[in-house]
Amino acid sequence: MILIKLGGSIITNKEKPLSPRKETIEKLSKSLRKIDEPIIIVHGGGSYGHYWSVKYDMHTKEKKYNPKGVAIVKNSMIELNKIILDSLIKNRLNPYCLPPTDFMSGNKPIIKKIKEIEKIAKSGLIPVTYGDALWFGQNKTYILSGDKIMAHIAKILKPRLCIFALNEDGLYSDLKSKKLIYELQGERPSISENKMDVTGGMTRKVEEASKIAKMGMNVFFVNGNKPERIVKAVKNRTFEGTLFRGKRNV
Ligand code: IPE
Repeated sequence: MILIKLGGSIITNKEKPLSPRKETIEKLSKSLRKIDEPIIIVHGGGSYGHYWSVKYDMHTKEKKYNPKGVAIVKNSMIELNKIILDSLIKNRLNPYCLPPTDFMSGNKPIIKKIKEIEKIAKSGLIPVTYGDALWFGQNKTYILSGDKIMAHIAKILKPRLCIFALNEDGLYSDLKSKKLIYELQGERPSISENKMDVTGGMTRKVEEASKIAKMGMNVFFVNGNKPERIVKAVKNRTFEGTLFRGKRNV
């Protein structure tokens, strides 16, 4: 089983509100078709959900946020999700749309529901879920990032490989020279970025990826503009990007 996150920065143009990168999405769908293993897809919010969550000052912290913001974030994620689903169907894949409300209760994953996702994936359907604004309880809501969903699913289903498709070649040891880190073995890279409580940043991805690697799984950061690298990683196990080696695989 392969777990793939399509980052918001790759499926949308983050500079411009509500702008999907349709060609890139098509290319990704075409490549995903070449994978014969069961896969689960998680996608981010980019210039849809992420854009609105920033506008309405909504964060990952559980709080009483503006109901209008919650409604708009959720609605925009459905719109982006539909674009992804349409592209997958057009490329003769069979997505099975799963809004995160299906398997989350408050901020906890529902284990039974997550185990069901595995069965769905193994049946020939491709479960597709996404980061979203979620109900927490006591009038509070929060932003659940796609990256967090990756960690929740990975913990329970233990996929063979977790892939994060980004708008970069991987993780750079130096942002200026864009010197790529090819492999990490258990250590947590320190990247210079201010750690704000918003979704979408690289810090959060690295945090979730390190968490998953610590649980024993390999995590691969790859450039989603070069989707053949995703296929190569899955098929030939050659990694053109940054590989976080899972502890048991070191
Ligand atoms: C964002 O999910 C979810 C919303 C803000 C609704 P992510 O945090 O995973 O999105 P990207 O991939 O970084 O854009």
